[in-house]
Amino acid sequence: MTGSYLNGEKRPQNALEVTGGRRLSGEVRISGAKNAALPILCATILAPGSYRIENCPRLTDVFTLIELLERLGAQASWDLSSVPLLDPPPPLFMDTSGLASFEAPFELVRKMRASFLVLGPLVARFGRARVPLPGGCEIGARPVDFHLQGLKALGAQWEIDSGFVDVRATGLKGARILLDFPSVTGTENILMAAVLAKGTSVIENAAMEPEVVDLGEMLIKMGARIKGLGTPSIVIEGVDELRPVSWKIIPDRIEAGTFMVAVGITGGELGLLGAEAGHLDAVISKLSSAGLKIVTGSGRIDVERSGPIESVDVTTSPYPGFPTDLQAQMVALMAYAKGLSVIKEQVFENRFRHVDELRRLGADIRVEQRSAIIRGRSRLKGAPLTATDLRASASLVLAGLGAEGVTRVLDIHHLDRGYEALDEKLRQVGARIERV
Ligand code: UD1
Repeated sequence: MTGSYLNGEKRPQNALEVTGGRRLSGEVRISGAKNAALPILCATILAPGSYRIENCPRLTDVFTLIELLERLGAQASWDLSSVPLLDPPPPLFMDTSGLASFEAPFELVRKMRASFLVLGPLVARFGRARVPLPGGCEIGARPVDFHLQGLKALGAQWEIDSGFVDVRATGLKGARILLDFPSVTGTENILMAAVLAKGTSVIENAAMEPEVVDLGEMLIKMGARIKGLGTPSIVIEGVDELRPVSWKIIPDRIEAGTFMVAVGITGGELGLLGAEAGHLDAVISKLSSAGLKIVTGSGRIDVERSGPIESVDVTTSPYPGFPTDLQAQMVALMAYAKGLSVIKEQVFENRFRHVDELRRLGADIRVEQRSAIIRGRSRLKGAPLTATDLRASASLVLAGLGAEGVTRVLDIHHLDRGYEALDEKLRQVGARIERV
């Protein structure tokens, strides 16, 4: 991979300085979905050969996964030096013909929990995988028991050995797998293992997120036989082999939602180019109740706020519910709303670490069990803040856009893990935001 200018070497600064009070106005291109790109890159393990991936976002989690695949023996080619950060990325070429190792290195998996997604495809292709127990964002316990139970149901054996999950299988066999909770990466890992298993598999209580559907549709193009994508019951007829394909990743609904909330906080109007409104029903409905005017078109969403921000209550839940990945941003918006709102987090425990930081701006928020209770204020005042995880860091930047004076957000490597050029894009539409 050449010219990866979003990684540490070329973006050494670790803080963002936001001067609040500017309205946003203009157009922003929405990038490819991080949470679709990661499983899609892992799916290239399933069939040796060359893949062309379009609309792959240039962000640290993607770079980490590419490095992981390279360490397993794949070859990536992605010339990032020729295309400016604000333009669509060039295609990523991935060749998995020489992929020969089934052991994922600890130093990469510890950086990013989603690297655990190599497990299913490695077992399917090699009958063996050794993957460290994952690290990643510190939001709740985040176990991987569903992934392992799923692989076991398909006939694999696993044990924990020196911090690694060591999985062995002599031919996976189709099975019925009932998930206790519709885990996104759990569904994806099991799906990627089941496509090459013998016979029929059914994943019940499967995740219905658009990113799972995108992965499944790519697998179908590769030759997999899958029915029920986007429903709680996915049926997979195993096939003997798959073939490499070209694929274009869906737009990032979380990035689109983040820009909608940004307009909510600053006022003004934004056109979100490439955004898919069909993936954002719950978000559009809540933001409309909060006083935003949202007009959806084909491949575009227009957002405007001119009146006051109304308080709304939100409960996160699996798709098609309100996404947990937009909860922190919604808390920031409600900190500026008229009146009281309650935001309940139902997907993860311990996902309110942004609240203490938002309080430093003067926000009136308290956390009771799984809810943030927010009494909105019309004015917050800039302060130094520390980002704690990916989506929390976005909420701090957004809150800073509305605050008086300067908000400095430290540790923004968390932000770079999952947003392609968020600061450049915000600057392009009128925000005062600098890397320092
Ligand atoms: C994915 C997304 C993440 C998003 C989350 C929920 C990717 C790369 N990441 O994470 O951005 O916030 O979905 O929409 O797509 N659980 C278990 N056992 C398991 C797996 C999960 O108990 O084996 C629990 C988790 O602790 C959590 C819940 O299930 O409480 C949902 O987690 P899950 O959907 O698995 O999240 P991820 O797939 O890790």
